[in-house]
Amino acid sequence: MSPRTADTAVAVHPLLAERWSPRSFDASHTVTDEQLTALLEAARWAASAGNLQPWRFLVGRRGDATFKQIFDSLKPGNQLWAGNSSLLIAAVAAEQHADGTPHSHAAYDTGLAVAQLVLQAQALGLHAHQMGGFEAEQLRTALSVPDGYRPLSVTAIGVAAAADLLPPELHARETAARERRPLTETFYAEGWGTPVRVRQQG
Ligand SMILES: Cc1cc2nc3c(=O)[nH]c(=O)nc-3n(C[C@H](O)[C@H](O)[C@H](O)COP(=O)(O)O)c2cc1C
Repeated sequence: MSPRTADTAVAVHPLLAERWSPRSFDASHTVTDEQLTALLEAARWAASAGNLQPWRFLVGRRGDATFKQIFDSLKPGNQLWAGNSSLLIAAVAAEQHADGTPHSHAAYDTGLAVAQLVLQAQALGLHAHQMGGFEAEQLRTALSVPDGYRPLSVTAIGVAAAADLLPPELHARETAARERRPLTETFYAEGWGTPVRVRQQG
């Protein structure tokens, strides 16, 4: 069990317990075509409201033009570290139904597809780090995202590397204890605010 492993009241699946979001990535690593295809299949097979699959993805591999365009759209704080990842994948949601009415579950569904992609990355021995810190309009222009589609996130994927390879200002964040709100403050029953009775963290 690594110091990054989630501290849970009872065991959860290792894919979940071992997932975390590194900033230090191995700049020499590249994904194989098979790995990339597995990541995309994992996202493609997510559940969605009405099976409308409102997601689209823009996929950049380090060294190609798409990677650079996605990278250039990142906020400076993310550009400090994301360039060493093997993939930058932008998730885009179709915000409207075919008849032009708003699709109220588009973001929910697209996030779920990203979650599946992230866990597939974990299953392949890779790590993923999602980012909301990017300029959506810059990405839209650079990669010709049509109206009605909204870029929601960028996910960096690659092999996690040593924390001390990061610039000093990022090093402490990479090794800081991972924390979550307690079960009692998150899961309710018998009315809002009343903790559901489950085993607590010991
Ligand atoms: C929608 C979303 C946006 C995020 N945006 C950023 C970001 O812009 N930069 C960053 O370094 N991390 C970002 N993160 C990563 C979170 O900070 C991270 O998931 C959280 O601190 C929990 O850490 P863990 O993933 O290691 O468990 C984002 C995560 C999500 C899901």
